[in-house]
Amino acid sequence: MQQSETSYHIPVMKDECLHWLSGRPNGIYVDGTLGAGGHTKALLATLGPDARVFGIDHDDDALAEAAKNINDSRFEAVKGNFGFMQTLLPPDYTGKVDGILLDLGVSSYQIDEPSRGFTYREDGPLDMRMSRLRALTAADVVNEYSYERLRDLLFEYGEERRSIPIAKTIISQRPLESTFDLKKCVESVVKGPHTIKSISRVFQAIRIEVNQELEMLKQGLEQAVSMLRDEGRIVVMSYHSLEDRIVKQFFKAGNFTGKQDKDFYGNLVRPLQPLFAKPLSATAEEQSQNPRSRSARLRVAEKVKQEAG
Ligand SMILES: C[S@@+](CC[C@H](N)C(=O)[O-])C[C@H]1O[C@@H](n2cnc3c(N)ncnc32)[C@H](O)[C@@H]1O
Repeated sequence: MQQSETSYHIPVMKDECLHWLSGRPNGIYVDGTLGAGGHTKALLATLGPDARVFGIDHDDDALAEAAKNINDSRFEAVKGNFGFMQTLLPPDYTGKVDGILLDLGVSSYQIDEPSRGFTYREDGPLDMRMSRLRALTAADVVNEYSYERLRDLLFEYGEERRSIPIAKTIISQRPLESTFDLKKCVESVVKGPHTIKSISRVFQAIRIEVNQELEMLKQGLEQAVSMLRDEGRIVVMSYHSLEDRIVKQFFKAGNFTGKQDKDFYGNLVRPLQPLFAKPLSATAEEQSQNPRSRSARLRVAEKVKQEAG
């Protein structure tokens, strides 16, 4: 039975992604975050008979769902982390890809499934792994990390101002066994209207740590540059400022240091040219229909044509 895309995960800013992504109807495309395949399916509908589309995801549930949604000989699903896309894709496609899409983070089905441990709305195990091949779980982070490490990751990855008392509370309540145990630790520190935001920030921080999301994003962006052909495009949708900052910096400078390299004549040397400075957001209509789209920030860059010789 085919599950409708709306009951599973609604693809965010679908029209905008397709608009910026597709150039050559019979080109090669990579969806680095296949999920349920909503964007890929829509992309395939715009492409010609000789197009090739690879969909990467490291989550078995996502791959199973995409397989139900997409039955197309031009499409190939690939299990793995987009941070290693160059090794996941056929070697002769390096430097030949027309468009790459990254729709970052977790999908609705991962969040909505309490047994995955991403949600604080229902009780579940402290897991939060997108790929079950990962050894580290949320339980390991909250129960085994030192106070300093826990405090710093809540501050850096969650941008949580009360990281010190929350980290101390978590340590005093060890061992934590479920998502509600973790939620209660935050509730005992942050009272009033800000509680939910803090819980959400703490869950985000631990999820980022468990899945090494920022490191994989950096690695994925670098690999995407190698995979793209000259003038090929990368479209990235991020859902929080940490990710968006990384994407913005990389598109602008081609590195993560923030420094822009210049050649002998003072011209910028960078592999990508951002197509616009400010990220695009979902329309008001989409935001009202799909709450997940409210935090989406879409950036697009084009691979700079290398001068011969
Ligand atoms: C926001 S969802 C994508 C939804 C998809 N665009 C759709 O329309 O159905 C993100 C997906 O990317 C996957 N993902 C996140 N980070 C990944 C990574 N580093 N490597 C591979 N897959 C990743 C998640 O498992 C999830 O299925």
